[in-house]
Amino acid sequence: MENAEVGLIGLAVMGANLARNISNNGFKTVVYNRTTEKMTQYIEEFGNENLIGKESLEDFVQSIARPRKIIILVKAGDAVDAVINQLIPLVEKGDMIIDCGNTNYRDTIRRTNDLNEKGIHFIGCGVSGGEEGALNGPSIMPGGSPESWEEMKEMWKAIAADDFLGGPCTAHIGEGGAGHYVKMVHNGIEYAVMQMIAEAYDMLKKMYGQTPDEIAKVFKRFNEGRLNSFLFEIAVPVLLKKDGSAHIIDVILDKAGQKGTGKWTAIEALDRGIGLSSISESVFARVNSSYKEDRVHLARSFPKPELQSETTLEEFIQLLEQSLYAGMLSCYAQGFELIKLASTEEGWKVNLSEVSRIWQGGCIIRAEVLQFLTDTYKASGKESPKLLELKEIQKAINGSLPAWRDIICLSVQAGIPTPALTSGLQYIDASTTERLPANMIQGLRDYFGAHTYERTDKEGSFHTDWSE
Ligand SMILES: NC(=O)c1ccc[n+]([C@@H]2O[C@H](COP(=O)([O-])OP(=O)(O)OC[C@H]3O[C@@H](n4cnc5c(N)ncnc54)[C@H](OP(=O)(O)O)[C@@H]3O)[C@@H](O)[C@H]2O)c1
Repeated sequence: MENAEVGLIGLAVMGANLARNISNNGFKTVVYNRTTEKMTQYIEEFGNENLIGKESLEDFVQSIARPRKIIILVKAGDAVDAVINQLIPLVEKGDMIIDCGNTNYRDTIRRTNDLNEKGIHFIGCGVSGGEEGALNGPSIMPGGSPESWEEMKEMWKAIAADDFLGGPCTAHIGEGGAGHYVKMVHNGIEYAVMQMIAEAYDMLKKMYGQTPDEIAKVFKRFNEGRLNSFLFEIAVPVLLKKDGSAHIIDVILDKAGQKGTGKWTAIEALDRGIGLSSISESVFARVNSSYKEDRVHLARSFPKPELQSETTLEEFIQLLEQSLYAGMLSCYAQGFELIKLASTEEGWKVNLSEVSRIWQGGCIIRAEVLQFLTDTYKASGKESPKLLELKEIQKAINGSLPAWRDIICLSVQAGIPTPALTSGLQYIDASTTERLPANMIQGLRDYFGAHTYERTDKEGSFHTDWSE
C-alpha cells in the first residue's frame, strides 16, 4: 500500500490498539516502531490491506499521502523529541505531527512553536480510555491549529467513542497545548474520583465491618443510580475477584504511585493560583500511602477511636451515596475552573460544555454525571460559566450537603482519613463563604512584616503600627 492516509509511530499498547482502531474504520494506516521486530510481529498478527508496516522511517514517511498525518505514541518526554527530530528532515511544509501521548502541555507548546517555524503543524492530542479505549473508541482531545482539526476531524470522529446521544467523543479543544492540558485535568479528576471511591470502601470496611463482597454490592447499587460510571463499574470486579480463597483486594499492598498527570494538575493549580483541593489532596493521599513502614510503626502510637454511631448501615449507605455524588460534582467544578483559567490566560477558548460532552464515553472518568453537566452548561446559554453559579448544580450540591457533612463527621470521629471527600466539601464551603478569616491572616502579616492590607470601609493600602 502506498499513499496511506495516516502513519503511526510507536507500537506499545496504546499505539498498537489505536492503529487497529484507525485501520478498522477504513483509514489506510502505516505503522513504524523503533524496534523493528515489534512491528513485524504486529503486522503478522493484525496486518491487512488497510494496515501495513515499514521497517525504515524514510519508507514510512514516503508511504503517507500529503499533507501527511503522523501520529506519535511513544514514551512521553525525551522519546517524543527524539522522534520529532528524526521526522523533521523527512516531512514537508503543511504536514501534521500528532502527539497522542500523555505529554506535559508546556512541552507541547514548545514543540508547536518550533515546528510552526518550519511550516509543520504540531498537534498535542489527549487520548483517554487505556488500551481498551484506544482499540474500541477513546475520548480524543486534540489541540493544535483549526486547520489541522479540519484535516483530521473525519478520522477523529470515526474512531472516537460515542457520547450519551451518539455523537463522537472528540472536539477541537483549542490551539497550542489545550488538548494536552484538558487531558491532564481529566487525569487529575480521575485521581480525585478514584480516591473518593477508595475512601468510601475504607469507611464501609472499617466502620461497618463490610466484606469485599458486601462492599461490591453497595457499589453495584451506586452504579445503578446517578453515580453510574466506569470507575464504579470496575470497582465491583476489583472487589469480587479472588485468588484461591482470598479476595485479591485484601492482599494488594496499600501503596499507590503518583508521578504523572495528577501531580502536574496540582502543580498547575498552585502555579496559576486557583483552588483544586480534592485533586491535590488525592495526589497527597497517594504520597502518604507510599510511607507504609512509617504508618505501620506509628499506628501503634496513635490508636484509632471506636466508632460510637447510631447511624445504621442502610442510613450510612444513603448518606455515602449523596456525599459521593456531591463530591464528584465538586471535583468537576474544581477541574473545570482550572481549565477555564488556563484557557483565558493562554487564549485557548476551551468550550467546557464540549469538554464535559466528550468525556461521556471512552475515557476513564466517563460517568452519567457528565450528561447532567453538559445539559446544565447548555441550558445556561453560556459557553463556559462557573459550575457553582448554575442553579441546577447548586440544587444538586445543596441537596447533598447535610449528608456530606454527616459522612465527614463520622469519618473524622472514627479516625479514618477521607482527604478527597473532606477537601471537596471544604472547597464548596470556602468558595461559597461571604467572609473568610483572611482578614486575620492579613493582620498578622502586617504585624510581623508590614505587608499592608486593604480595608472594607475605604480604598487603598494600609499599614498599622500594631505594637502601639
Ligand atoms: N498505557 C495506557 O493506558 C495509556 C493511556 C493513555 C495515554 N498513554 C500514553 O500514551 C503514550 C504511549 O503509551 P504506551 O503505554 O503505549 O507506551 P510506552 O510504554 O509509554 O512507550 C513505549 C513505546 O515508545 C517507544 N520508544 C521509547 N523510547 C523511544 C525513542 N527514544 N525513540 C523511538 N521510540 C521510542 C517504544 O519503542 P520500542 O518498542 O523500540 O522500545 C515503544 O513503542 C505515553 O505517552 C503514555 O503516557 C498511555
